[in-house]
Amino acid sequence: MTSGATENPDFGLSDHHFAARELPYRAGLLAGSTVLVTGAGGGLGRAMSWTFARLGAQLIVSGRDPDKLERIAADLAGAGHEVHRIVCNIRRHEETEALYAEVAERFGSLDLLVNNAGGQFPQAAIDFSPKGWHAVVETNLTGTWNMMQGAARLWREAGTPGSIVNIVSVTDRGQPGVAHTCAARAGIVALTRTVAVEWAPYRIRINCVAPGAIATDGQKVYSEEARQRSRRSNPMLRFGDAADIADAVVFLGGPTGKFITGETLDVDGGGKLWGEFFVAGRPAYFDE
Ligand code: ADE
Repeated sequence: MTSGATENPDFGLSDHHFAARELPYRAGLLAGSTVLVTGAGGGLGRAMSWTFARLGAQLIVSGRDPDKLERIAADLAGAGHEVHRIVCNIRRHEETEALYAEVAERFGSLDLLVNNAGGQFPQAAIDFSPKGWHAVVETNLTGTWNMMQGAARLWREAGTPGSIVNIVSVTDRGQPGVAHTCAARAGIVALTRTVAVEWAPYRIRINCVAPGAIATDGQKVYSEEARQRSRRSNPMLRFGDAADIADAVVFLGGPTGKFITGETLDVDGGGKLWGEFFVAGRPAYFDE
């Protein structure tokens, strides 16, 4: 049913699970809603795409990599969920403008934007090159901003309400090993709080979901030692899964969240309250 690589991912749940799991929301909850998910071909994005499609949303999947997008679209189509695909590099403002022009022409408007696209690599902050820093900040902060502003302009133009969920990370205690993404994600949280107020007159709600240690193929960029530490970085002593994040996104972005705006929901098993989170490995200095 699915395209091979996603049947047995190295980490986390398979598409078979996303296609068949019992959803905590009623069938048809999002029928009549148009939902756009960026980064839809990746680990969290696939879980979200399956969840939104199964809840009856008209789904638009977006991403930078056309092959990955084709794969998720084909897998969903194989289960009877027709989705629309838009290739877009969110770092390029003109590409996000073209994306919204296509959404407006084809769907009139949008109900929910999920800003899931992003990425980072582990490195000690003291060793960041200007190129590495800019790449992470431009994708995670500027790219997300391009998408947020484009959606808000679409809703202002169409005169329809809208909702945004930004996928960030838990930034309260800092994240040694990925300082660039920490800076970008904290920026999104601050932006979200700010435009939640500025955009309320347009009937736009905007919230964030902050995943903690989640088992997806994104874990591949970290060492085995770092992964084992991440797994034990919360009082539940385990990874969360991509469905935990998808369900939180539906909760905040959909009708259940209708009186929630400017909020960040940490989905981290209590990680920020307990334990250490050295995403890229724990320097020996801290062994004392
Ligand atoms: N996923 C990671 N980087 C991305 C980008 N620049 N545009 C869209 N999706 C992405």
